[in-house]
Amino acid sequence: MTFPFTRPRRLRRTPALRSLLQETILQPRHLVYPLFVAEKSTEPVPVASMPGVFQHSIDSVLNEVADALKLGIKAVILFGVPDEKNPEATAAFDEHGIIQQATKAIKERFGDDMVVITDTCLCEYTHHGHCGIVMGGHVLNDPSAELLGKVAVSQAAAGADIVAPSAMMDGQVAYIRDMLDDAGYEHIPIMAYSAKYASNLYAPFRDAAESTPSFGNRATYQMDWHNRREALREVVLDVTECADMIMVKPGLFYQDILAQTCDTVDVPVFVYSVSGEYSLFKAAAQQGWLDEPLITMEYLTALRRAGADGIITYAAKDAARWLQDEATAGGNVPPDNTHGDKE
Ligand code: PBG
Ligand code: ZN
Repeated sequence: MTFPFTRPRRLRRTPALRSLLQETILQPRHLVYPLFVAEKSTEPVPVASMPGVFQHSIDSVLNEVADALKLGIKAVILFGVPDEKNPEATAAFDEHGIIQQATKAIKERFGDDMVVITDTCLCEYTHHGHCGIVMGGHVLNDPSAELLGKVAVSQAAAGADIVAPSAMMDGQVAYIRDMLDDAGYEHIPIMAYSAKYASNLYAPFRDAAESTPSFGNRATYQMDWHNRREALREVVLDVTECADMIMVKPGLFYQDILAQTCDTVDVPVFVYSVSGEYSLFKAAAQQGWLDEPLITMEYLTALRRAGADGIITYAAKDAARWLQDEATAGGNVPPDNTHGDKE
């Protein structure tokens, strides 16, 4: 029997009733906080296109991690901005490189309380800003993948808990797994940026990481946004190469890909809500056109609803704070679970 006997509104009558029936949970533990560490920074340098985001020094990144931990966030992902960029991306695997130093400092101070993920790529370290080695105007695949293996080993040696290759080189996960295992890091997981699209939403990140390609674009390695099936192909390949977790990127405009991936694979799936998404929301909020806490909660919950196990977001700290407040959490989070810090 349909209306008037069937009435969905019966289940929406009171806040408690609605809370009882919420299907999707978002908590600070689902969030990964991206941080930029710049060799040249002695204090935090604001990133103009990403209000609230900074290029950190080692000291200021430690403060950020402490804040995140207090808010119940369990993981950070680190991006390095080195002083020296060259064709071989040597600063990416230097044991005293900025990312290696930052990783060591965070692990020394916070131990196993904070999961440190390192972005494993070359674009911040090459003078041309491409994610691989360039020869004759082409981004070489296998030599780049091998170099990524070397970078991953240096990150694991510095104490990284997870390495996250983002270069979109074919076979990069296999190279990295092989080289990590050879170096005695068989216990270090790989979170593969598997379905990473050549998106226009990365522009603010490239300001923050100083990694805009000096010629051409990333279309020969990152995916064409017209394609859906190709994403699954990339994901399955990475899982076959023993990726422990995979990632879909960006989030906004790509939730079809995210949902399909989550329905298909049996490894944890993370989504990267990228810089341009953050900046879009910030800009609209600064104009007073959107309510920042509410739009952010709605969006992050939508990514969880699509199936994401975890969400990488520049808004992690803000979101964790808003989740502590019933008014902005939307009844989503049980009050006794919102405070992740131990005391
Ligand atoms: C580096 C990398 C990029 C992002 C994460 N890792 C930039 C790119 O591919 O140009 C983008 C993240 C963001 O926009 O927030 N390969
Ligand atoms: Zn890159």
